[in-house]
Amino acid sequence: MKRLCRDIADAVGDAIKDYTNIAEGGAILYKGADGTPTARLDDVAEGAALRILKEDGRSIRLVSEEIGTIVLGERPEFTIVLDPVDGTYNAIHGIPFYSISIAVGGSDLSQIYYGYIKDLVTGDVYSAERAKGAFMNGKELRVACKTNLDEYCVSVNGCTPLMNFMNKNNKRIRVIGSASLELCYVASNRLDGFVDIRSHLRITDVAAGKLIVEEAGGIVTDDNGAILNSPLDVRRRVNIVAANEEIHKELVTRLQG
Ligand code: IPD
Ligand code: CA
Repeated sequence: MKRLCRDIADAVGDAIKDYTNIAEGGAILYKGADGTPTARLDDVAEGAALRILKEDGRSIRLVSEEIGTIVLGERPEFTIVLDPVDGTYNAIHGIPFYSISIAVGGSDLSQIYYGYIKDLVTGDVYSAERAKGAFMNGKELRVACKTNLDEYCVSVNGCTPLMNFMNKNNKRIRVIGSASLELCYVASNRLDGFVDIRSHLRITDVAAGKLIVEEAGGIVTDDNGAILNSPLDVRRRVNIVAANEEIHKELVTRLQG
């Protein structure tokens, strides 16, 4: 699985090189299956990923942001949940923070067993296999072990009592614009938590990152602290709270106001 994900990520990285600017990559070509506009950059990236998947020859169910769900071959052996470029706005506006997110599993979010996210700027690779840990460039990852709110640095997206509290008390908020990569930042102890409760994220944004945070010892739930699950359908929207156990508890409590 790792080789297939690596080949997809490398092909996408090569294909988008000339498109990471508004003039070449920013034109909106059509509305994607997820209901949001598809920029030329997204289309080029997904096309490159599809070429690799077809060359692979296995029967695969692909759930991808622009094309939606398609089946390659006759009897899919597994499902790939793909966001060819997560952080398109960043990529075409010269903000160096965007990634490709690939998750492998069965029929819903709970069945994802492999996650692979590549930072398309630095080349860093984050991956996890269910029950086998999470890694960045081969080095094992653990989420932060902080427990003191004063030390937290959290990505919070959505107007919430939590955000008001953090702003009022001068706490650190960093919203960087690529949900999958921000989840990797939680797994690698750069961010202490990731919250997005706008009912806007798609499964393609979170499928791989959720497993990577969990395998790094973190907790990932919806905004009520309940199990985060969803069918693998790009039209669905999810809310998410990811952090270590202590911080996660505090974030969910403060989200309720
Ligand atoms: C976007 C990123 C971003 C989030 C946006 C998403 P996209 O994904 O994940 O972090 O705030 O809501 O749309 O569209 O660039 O794949
Ligand atoms: Ca995308």
